[in-house]
Amino acid sequence: MEITEFVKNIHYVGVNDRVKQKFEGLWPLPNGVSYNSYLITDEKTALIDTVDLCYGERFLAKIQAILGDKPIDYLIINHMEPDHSASISLIRQVYPKMKIVGNAKTLSMIEGFYGICDYFMEIKDGDVLPLGKKKLRFYLTPMVHWPETMMTYCENDALLFSGDAFGCFGAVDGGVTDEQMNTDRYWSEMYRYYSNIVGKYGSPVQKALAKLAEVKIETICSTHGPVWQKNVEKVISIYDKLSRYEAEEGVVIAYGSMYGNTEQMAEEIARELAAQGIKNVVMYNLSFTDPSYVLSDIFRYKGLIIGGPTYSNQLFPPVEALTRMIEVRDIKNRIFGYFGSFTWAGASVRRLGTFAETMKWTNVCSPVEMKQGITPDKTAECCSLARNFVTLLKG
Ligand code: FEO
Repeated sequence: MEITEFVKNIHYVGVNDRVKQKFEGLWPLPNGVSYNSYLITDEKTALIDTVDLCYGERFLAKIQAILGDKPIDYLIINHMEPDHSASISLIRQVYPKMKIVGNAKTLSMIEGFYGICDYFMEIKDGDVLPLGKKKLRFYLTPMVHWPETMMTYCENDALLFSGDAFGCFGAVDGGVTDEQMNTDRYWSEMYRYYSNIVGKYGSPVQKALAKLAEVKIETICSTHGPVWQKNVEKVISIYDKLSRYEAEEGVVIAYGSMYGNTEQMAEEIARELAAQGIKNVVMYNLSFTDPSYVLSDIFRYKGLIIGGPTYSNQLFPPVEALTRMIEVRDIKNRIFGYFGSFTWAGASVRRLGTFAETMKWTNVCSPVEMKQGITPDKTAECCSLARNFVTLLKG
């Protein structure tokens, strides 16, 4: 058996993308990304999802190398975002009688994106599709992270085709399952993937996990990253924890600074946090770090302190952009503190105060606002903010 046939008659036919700079045009891909698709060769054949159109020919060649002259009987679409659906038209051209399987929302999106509206098979939550020896059951999991998202479960193999859920950034190098590779580099990319792509949808993820709670799962086949076999419990627990907004003890200090004055405030706060025993202090200068990494650590850690200078009577733009990304994701249950600076008229601290009210987090009620350069008084205020913050964090 090839290593890509990781379960008997279930083949990995996905592709790696090490060219794309930003996923969704937003999120950097320093280690690439995989678009995973799976082919089941039973009495009937079924393909689960497709790949980004740039890799359509490569994808098709993999399928044909396995099937030879056999047709694809079913194309099951768990998720319609084009990184998985854009090769539907190509596959349909080669296999014109293949039935496309999806729920009502999926099928309407296929017509909208690709103008295809025939040879459809509409399924509902809990429906079963027999392929021969293997049987597939469909679980609708809306808003993980699009409205049509669903998962397909192969009962015989206790194997879940989960769509984007349990996925991560990073090309799949060498082996395709976590038994066949060293997975160390994927864990931080799972946090970053969840925080940026799925993070807004904690409640739908919790509903999906509850729906699957009684389902025996030995293999998870996501659309991005390794196939999980050895680490099934770990990946489910990471998604469970993140979607409940549970966090570890630690503090992210995310700041902007034009000439280093606001940065000095951040340094004073960080040093005092450490003096109070906080070991996980992660500092980000928002002019230099892509926000996807900052968001990932904001999901990971319980504490967040944001600071920025006033710029054109507004909050410094990279700091403002981060606050908007946090608001969109509706991140819950964080301890929050803030600080800022100005030269002749302050606006940044006021704006961060409004942000604090919007998020309804536990706030340290004493922001530090500094005019021009740092003084011993302002250093003392920064230390006081840090000490009050630790009291809340530990409380
Ligand atoms: Fe990987 Fe939501 O697409």
